[in-house]
Amino acid sequence: MELFHANIVYSGNLTQLAVHTDSYLGVEDGKVAGIWEKLPQMYEGLPVTECGNGVLIPAFSDLHVHAPQYLNRGLNMDLLLEDWLNQLTFPMEARFADPDFARLTYDAFLDDLIANGTFHASVFASIHLPASSYLLEEMDRRGMKGFVGKVNMDRSAPENLLETPAQSLRETEQFLEAYSGNKNARPILTPRFAPTCTGELIRGLGNLGKKYGVGMQTHLVESRWEAQQARLLFPDCSCDTEIYERAGLLDNGPVIGAHFIFPSEKDEEIMLRHDGFIVHCPDATVNVIAGITPAGRLLDQGMKVTLGSDVSGGHHVGVYTQVARAVQYSKIKEFYEPEGNRTLSLAEAFYLATLQSGSLFGKVGSLAPGYDFDALLIDGLDDAARPLTPEQIVERFCYIGNASHIKARYLSGRRI
Ligand code: GUN
Ligand code: FE
Repeated sequence: MELFHANIVYSGNLTQLAVHTDSYLGVEDGKVAGIWEKLPQMYEGLPVTECGNGVLIPAFSDLHVHAPQYLNRGLNMDLLLEDWLNQLTFPMEARFADPDFARLTYDAFLDDLIANGTFHASVFASIHLPASSYLLEEMDRRGMKGFVGKVNMDRSAPENLLETPAQSLRETEQFLEAYSGNKNARPILTPRFAPTCTGELIRGLGNLGKKYGVGMQTHLVESRWEAQQARLLFPDCSCDTEIYERAGLLDNGPVIGAHFIFPSEKDEEIMLRHDGFIVHCPDATVNVIAGITPAGRLLDQGMKVTLGSDVSGGHHVGVYTQVARAVQYSKIKEFYEPEGNRTLSLAEAFYLATLQSGSLFGKVGSLAPGYDFDALLIDGLDDAARPLTPEQIVERFCYIGNASHIKARYLSGRRI
């Protein structure tokens, strides 16, 4: 048993943080064994890690992030989606045909995720099989829990980023065969979005999903332009989400839809029926899409809403920054579109980035007994003139914290 004496904060449920001030937390076999106000007698005499004023919180999960866009973070943020894809994003992703460039970039990307407290993620790679395989293997080797998608796209992109449907499906199947049995990082089907995928490709991916029992991630009703394109290119479907439902892509494993900013009633009905995860990426939607996911309204309808950095549509890998931004932009959403929309509390936004999103990866996203001890110790955020409560330290970390405020990182109980 490894023991910590600390302030401990995690999500009890959607609306409430569980706060244990000046308490003891025990870790056994990489999992939280218990939390006690006083050290139980049976553990007296064992060494205890003293955390001082620090706060132990669960590590974050990023449910939507593009690893090959890492080098573009914070650049060309004055463009909107279509121009941003064509001018900045596609040329960068094409470079991942070079495995050496990919290795260098993906190592730096994963280092930065871990530095910023993201230990679980659902990641888009690029169309390239060798680079995507390296990313998945490296995440798995580091013990990070997550999904990695080899991206599929067979139209409306530069020649050097296009696959034929046959080649795309063949390489995706190789990817699934190699890694479906993994424990930590596993593959997920990743049609980029409707405008860059033909019906033939999407139907083929539906067959692979069924054969291998694997879920799907994509960009879903992310902009008015994208929703319109989806209707135009798939005239027999009444909305974007129906394209994937008809192909049988929503029946085989987790469904992760990024953005969901302009859903029709039908989009919402389909996502709800398939228990899909919606990923709100506040910075990205304001940077390159100029819309805001109706997170509060979707939560009130019983949908699973989570958070993502969407680097490099979003400019910062730290999901904790998106906790703050989700609160900020929910107010703008409510102010300009009051009907059904409401402001999120800090506790709700924290839940989206930890317990809700972590549920995709097993027992992660909480520090309640039984959960994996995937944890961060945050400190150095209060002022000498006035101490803060543990909840206040968590809130301030989300607003003005950075990686240097994470003083210790534990992954499956191991300090890293
Ligand atoms: N839609 C299609 N591709 C992308 C992408 O790479 N990022 C974002 N944010 N939206 C997309
Ligand atoms: Fe994205």
